[in-house]
Amino acid sequence: MNHEPVLLKKSIDFLITEKNGIYFDGTAGFGGHSEEILKRLDKKGKLIATDKDQSAFEYCREKFLDDKRFSVYHTGFTNIDSISKIEFIEHFDGILADLGVSSFQLDTVESGFTFREDAPLDLRMNKTEGISAADLLNKFPEEEIARILFEFGEEKNSRTIAKKISEYRLTEKFSRTSQLRKIIEQTAPERFWNKTLSRVFQALRIFVNNELEDLKIFLDKAVKLLRPGGKIVVLSYHSLEDRIVKEKFKYESLSCICPPGLPVCTCGKIPGLKLITRKPVTPDETEIGINKRARSAKMRVAEKV
Ligand SMILES: C[S@@+](CC[C@H](N)C(=O)[O-])C[C@H]1O[C@@H](n2cnc3c(N)ncnc32)[C@H](O)[C@@H]1O
Repeated sequence: MNHEPVLLKKSIDFLITEKNGIYFDGTAGFGGHSEEILKRLDKKGKLIATDKDQSAFEYCREKFLDDKRFSVYHTGFTNIDSISKIEFIEHFDGILADLGVSSFQLDTVESGFTFREDAPLDLRMNKTEGISAADLLNKFPEEEIARILFEFGEEKNSRTIAKKISEYRLTEKFSRTSQLRKIIEQTAPERFWNKTLSRVFQALRIFVNNELEDLKIFLDKAVKLLRPGGKIVVLSYHSLEDRIVKEKFKYESLSCICPPGLPVCTCGKIPGLKLITRKPVTPDETEIGINKRARSAKMRVAEKV
């Protein structure tokens, strides 16, 4: 499968603290990080993984079929708490999330994640839940579409694009990526087409997969499920995700959240995490040279206290 795991060695160096521990990989993808975790674990170690994408789930199930230390679930990582109950796990020794989509999803035209080829306009990782990007464009009010493009794609031209979308759907229904591409080509000069398309597709993808809310839910649950001394490692690929991770880690690491100026602390806050990386770790030039997708990666690590 065509997916080069990002910051592979560094992320797993941080993650593994106990060779016979229990680990969680929330974004199994094509098993790159999972494989490295399994390599480093001893016989009694365990790895529980999830992926929302059917192909990724099936691929990992097959890939590690003979390794009894591995189990994978076709579900979102927000279900980490239910899965830990099913598996009779009280705490994890390390939790990993390598967010976003895999190169396989981006490169497989039928997955509909790329705007470079004509494909169904879907953008859901799990095609059995939620609404597709085409349905969103066909059914949502124009102002709501503008809000989504602005909030999740940081697209300045969001209102003009939303207006064009709502005019277009008076006569045609959206179903293909090429239809959306044509709309963008009418609203931006040619030199901005690809950047605008990236932002618009990112916004729709984040919305239809509920990515930012799911990340917040996952981080809340993950912090509670980590064993003291265990690490949480998160790799993100755009600023909206990275901000959520940074703020959650920072909040958890604070020992006081009283308003400034109070003579004594009254909040009683107890830190849940210690920051291991104050600044995000990014791939070096060599890795970026080999793997373009690594360009935007930022890794943050924290330890449960
Ligand atoms: C960047 S890839 C992970 C690649 C993986 N680390 C590897 O080395 O092969 C991200 C994967 O996370 C999955 N994913 C994204 N959000 C998810 C979520 N909320 N729950 C479960 N899986 C998710 C995607 O379907 C995709 O397969």
